[in-house]
Amino acid sequence: MTVKLIGVIGGGTMGAGIAEVCAKAGSEVLVLETKQELVEAAQQRVAKSISRGVSKGKISQEDADAAIARVRVTLDLGEFADRDLVIEAAPEIEALKYDIFGKLDEIVKPEGILASNTSSIPVIKVAGATRRPERVLGMHFFNPVPVMPLVEIISTLVTAPEIAAAVTDYAKNTLHKTTVQAGDRSGFIVNALLIPYLCQAVRMLESGYASAEDIDAAMKGGCGYPMGPLTLLDTVGLDIGLAAAESLYAEFAESHYAPPALLRRMVDAGRLGRKTGRGFYEYA
Ligand code: 3HC
Repeated sequence: MTVKLIGVIGGGTMGAGIAEVCAKAGSEVLVLETKQELVEAAQQRVAKSISRGVSKGKISQEDADAAIARVRVTLDLGEFADRDLVIEAAPEIEALKYDIFGKLDEIVKPEGILASNTSSIPVIKVAGATRRPERVLGMHFFNPVPVMPLVEIISTLVTAPEIAAAVTDYAKNTLHKTTVQAGDRSGFIVNALLIPYLCQAVRMLESGYASAEDIDAAMKGGCGYPMGPLTLLDTVGLDIGLAAAESLYAEFAESHYAPPALLRRMVDAGRLGRKTGRGFYEYA
């Protein structure tokens, strides 16, 4: 089973990052967006990020131009019929994902593989929206996608082993990512461990026990983490962190997964982190 033609649903931070790594690895990538202005924004996001590599001497101008040319953003889901692998990177809204997977199932060729980059929704739930659940799995990338080496591969109870093997092979040998295999539980491996830690940092701030700066400095200096937990939440997006905590809490009903009130209030206030210019910190 060869994976060559890639589809990505959504050209936001994660979708654009996934499109970038696939295109740099030589795959033809079609990205779906929902509005004309988002088409242009997604195309520019990918081009800008790839071009940044040229100024840093990581990629030649020629290779960058070729990679940018391999990415096309469209409004037409009908164009995804010939895709070997479609990776959904839409917002973490369950009903939206069911709708997308139902439509993809109608359009993508029967042998096509459908993957979700969901951070915490059990994959079998989206697979259930299709008539090919054995060809559906989780392919979870990390932010920033071009930099973070890991992809979690999530097989559901019904994912065919050869489908998981084909996607693992693509992630490892074409994208040159590190892969781990995880079962289909909310949060998989990384978020099941990371989200309680991030929530605990918010609770610590909320209780006035320590400042944001000191919480972050402590984990950087004391544990060697590249970013403190509140800076990391600002980077991944507080809405994404909240959605992940809600999914984990819904799955396990364990208090360490419960989203802190401050996290909810900041999302209500539109303080989503870097992408809105303000989260725990302010960004110019
Ligand atoms: N896109 C592309 N490249 C980027 C980038 C981006 N958004 N951000 C940073 N980089 C590159 C820089 O260009 C630089 O490359 P170079 O070394 O070749 O010059 C390199 O990454 C290091 O960047 P900086 O020197 O600017 O800054 P740092 O040393 O602090 O590294 C970082 C930045 C790699 C983001 C590092 O801080 C880090 O690893 N942070 C933790 C990230 C993390 O934990 N991600 C997982 C989040 S959880 C998740 O995504 C799951 C979801 O479901 C919630």
